[in-house]
Amino acid sequence: MAGERSKYYLEDPELGELTKELFRQYVGIQGDEEIVQHIKAIRDKAWQLFNYPCIGGFSFVEMQIHGHPLANEVFARMKTGKETLLDLGCCFAQDIRSLVFEGAPSDKMTGFDLRSDFVEFGYDLFRDRKTLKSEFVFGDFFEECGLKVGSFDIIHASAFFHLFNWEEQVEAVTKAIRLLKPKKDSLILGRQAGSPTADSYPHPTSRSGEMFRHDPESFDKLVNEVARRTGMQLKAESAFVGHQYGGLKYKELEREGFRVIQFSIRMV
Ligand SMILES: C[S@@+](CC[C@H](N)C(=O)[O-])C[C@H]1O[C@@H](n2cnc3c(N)ncnc32)[C@H](O)[C@@H]1O
Repeated sequence: MAGERSKYYLEDPELGELTKELFRQYVGIQGDEEIVQHIKAIRDKAWQLFNYPCIGGFSFVEMQIHGHPLANEVFARMKTGKETLLDLGCCFAQDIRSLVFEGAPSDKMTGFDLRSDFVEFGYDLFRDRKTLKSEFVFGDFFEECGLKVGSFDIIHASAFFHLFNWEEQVEAVTKAIRLLKPKKDSLILGRQAGSPTADSYPHPTSRSGEMFRHDPESFDKLVNEVARRTGMQLKAESAFVGHQYGGLKYKELEREGFRVIQFSIRMV
């Protein structure tokens, strides 16, 4: 997969202050250089398993949820200990760790992914195999996947829905809506690849070989279709947030029409 190799970042990851604080306090590694070497060693093991750009480019140490406009609402709701959160397509589940770091109880969070190996790498990365109480469920989201309908208050889905084409996204978002408790303010939020030219783009590692990249208008259209199928009243919000994606500065992808889009879907 020659094209994908280019998404293996040769330089050290640029770590934000929050990531460094999490590695110092939560993981227990003090020195910046030691943190970087630890992250690179785990990245290389995971890259051998699967060439996701988010692995090659270190975005698994970016706390995606923190940059979202609804981050403070999510922190406040999770800190009550009364709400539940699903991290859909969690991979290493860094966002679950960042929520624990913010004071959310780990046993109120569930991570879901196709590949259990990524979750194992997450335990190695965050050194919390004995302390993290979150449940991890594995399966294909398009199949009977072991997640209970109507059981989550919040779903975080970062770099997940974008892995699929339009029809698959309608199916996946519909399924995610059904996993939420059917009540006001049940919420899906995340960020993913978008484009000022909303359309299907090739994706070498996605199930159909293509991905649909949204602009805010196409995202509204998707959510309207999901609202029609589920009979729920849904409010969609989305906006582009610049071209930097994960740990990668994807300048070259900007030329292909790449942007990052942040989104939320709220039950009203
Ligand atoms: C691009 S990664 C995003 C990881 C993480 N959420 C982040 O933002 O850094 C997408 C994740 O979705 C998982 N995934 C892909 N297709 C899936 C499917 N059909 N069902 C469940 N998980 C899937 C992959 O295994 C991978 O861990």
